[in-house]
Amino acid sequence: MKETNVNGDGGNRLRILLAGQGQADLNHLRNLLLRAGAERIKIDCVQTREETRSHLRESKYDLLLVDYPEGNEGVRHWLRDPDGTEVRIPAVFLGDYFNHGGMEAAIQAAACNQTEGCKRIAPCLALYVLGGIEAHLKQRQQRTSEEALQKLRRSVEQSPDLVMITNSAGLLEYVNPAFEKLTGYTSAEVIGQTLGILKSDQQSGELYEEMWNTVLSGKVFHGTVMNRKKNGETFIIEKAITPMRNPGGQITHFISTGRDITDQRKLESQIHQSQKMDAIGLLAGGVAHDFNNLLLVISAYAELVLDSLGAEDPSRKKIDEIITATRRAAELTRQLLAFGRKQMQSLRVLDLNTVVGEIANMLPRLIGEDIQLAFVPGRDLVKVKADPAQIEQVVMNLATNARDAMPRGGRLTIETSNVTLDQAYVQKHMVVPAGEYVLLAVSDSGDGIPAEHLNHIFEPFYTTKEAGKGTGLGLATAYGIVKQSEGFIWVYSEPGLGTTFKIYLPRVHRASEVELHSLTRPGSPRGRETVLLVEDEAAVRASTNEFLVRCGYTVVTAENGVDALRVSRNYGGPIDLMISDVVMPKMSGPQLAAQLVAERPAMKTLFVSGYAENTILQHGNIDVTARFLSKPFSLSTLANKIREVVETSEILAGAAASS
Ligand SMILES: Nc1ncnc2c1ncn2[C@@H]1O[C@H](COP(=O)(O)OP(=O)(O)OP(=O)(O)O)[C@@H](O)[C@H]1O
Ligand SMILES: [Mg+2]
Repeated sequence: MKETNVNGDGGNRLRILLAGQGQADLNHLRNLLLRAGAERIKIDCVQTREETRSHLRESKYDLLLVDYPEGNEGVRHWLRDPDGTEVRIPAVFLGDYFNHGGMEAAIQAAACNQTEGCKRIAPCLALYVLGGIEAHLKQRQQRTSEEALQKLRRSVEQSPDLVMITNSAGLLEYVNPAFEKLTGYTSAEVIGQTLGILKSDQQSGELYEEMWNTVLSGKVFHGTVMNRKKNGETFIIEKAITPMRNPGGQITHFISTGRDITDQRKLESQIHQSQKMDAIGLLAGGVAHDFNNLLLVISAYAELVLDSLGAEDPSRKKIDEIITATRRAAELTRQLLAFGRKQMQSLRVLDLNTVVGEIANMLPRLIGEDIQLAFVPGRDLVKVKADPAQIEQVVMNLATNARDAMPRGGRLTIETSNVTLDQAYVQKHMVVPAGEYVLLAVSDSGDGIPAEHLNHIFEPFYTTKEAGKGTGLGLATAYGIVKQSEGFIWVYSEPGLGTTFKIYLPRVHRASEVELHSLTRPGSPRGRETVLLVEDEAAVRASTNEFLVRCGYTVVTAENGVDALRVSRNYGGPIDLMISDVVMPKMSGPQLAAQLVAERPAMKTLFVSGYAENTILQHGNIDVTARFLSKPFSLSTLANKIREVVETSEILAGAAASS
């Protein structure tokens, strides 16, 4: 084989395979060709049919030029392997005589040209070669534009965005597969219809009008549109409609592209919602905290006055009313504190199945006989860290709501399960860190919640119940508790289809469980120990002091941490217990305790606070669970708690060791 590569590179030149048995003839032909256009061609020469076919198989040629020696049907054999495989390539056969049948077959098999009796006449040959080149270039151009067209088509078909083409009257002529997938309509169902088929009643008529006015005036329309799928569900797309013009400038079509932003919008609204709840929580929690201190003073003095009255005193009833009212007010502030995530938590590592199982036993009494209750505990449930009393409260609140939503009876299902939320799911669906959770789902078959209420139900005091029936604090409390436990709560509801609340609590890996026994007993137990009372609110300090003295304790008081250190150092006798507020100016309760316990190792500590500030929760070495009393409390609760702390040294030692 000989190769003539005039410019030394194959580049964009036409590659010709020149085949013929006579070496001299081939040389002659090659020279003729090179003269006709050396800069445009690259020529390989071969002599046999086998060589020709193997060259054609191995390399890409643009043209086969055969100096054709045979008189019979051999034409096809230049292009066809013995196994019948044909090589398709533009070809020019030069010969003195031809078998026309064989040539026709060859022409069918390939883009073939022929000439007879003129192989050695240069101008004629050049004409044919140029004809072949032209035919080939045309073919190549056609192939390139077909490929470009295919590419365009595929990009529209494989685009994740919706693509719709309508004619100038707005009738659909094309929709891509993404459209079919999202809307549920097949192409056949919508071709010939207008885009109005997707119209949802949640979108104003003006927007459609504006859309058409814009595109009919030749401009591009951009907008966000709420549409409806075939199954009735709505979806939101960010849309652009572009008028398409013909070469004469007339609008012939409109091309509409759209991106489904439903999930993105949901996520944004979740973020917005949680920011709103944070703000309300901050406000509610702050007010509740200050209000709590006032309540504590009112109830403490009321209790003290009551104690000082004789059994038959007519004022007793009035004082009782005051105490009852403060209890009701305390319950309200407790819920508000819970919502504001400022309720004190007794965090435990716990098995949700045990806690929920216990409360589920009590639920039938709450929900009545007409509602069927099913508790479906998940298998091998991992542990979570939460306050069991708070979890009970959440389940009770959800069950109460479910009961109210099913006045004619129905089903209430409580389920638990382990779930892993992966990054992909989280990005698409919710504002929750990916990870392992325990899911607690509470579903009812009740009336469901109308869409206009859904965004508000977790807000405090949002209720649809008639006056006197609901305070609107049930879900706000549940929300605050779940958030405080670093979990998430979601609601899914459709009117008529019931409601499901889903609570995700993060899994804990440290499985040590602190179990403490409640030593509360009725009445106000007395004691003789010495108590250091540290409280910055003068009124609270005075009333608590008076009560403790009445219960038999020796009391020394201090108004803050620094003062307490001084008082303790000046006090000669033993101090058995320090009762301290958690959040105080100058020095926090836990900081004070850390210093004082070093000086008085036998002293026990009881913390009191209106809320769970991070300061105390972050203080890992303080056993918040056992030594904490949340405000407001009744004096008898305080008396009981004091006994519990003073008398449970062994249990606490055990608990501290395991934490
Ligand atoms: N399972 C449910 N089915 C239907 N609607 C519900 C459901 N749970 C809550 N809601 C709606 O959410 C509102 C707020 O509930 P939330 O528990 O916070 O307050 P409430 O039940 O009205 O009053 P409270 O619980 O303080 O007595 C309810 O008034 C009700 O409209
Ligand atoms: Mg409720």
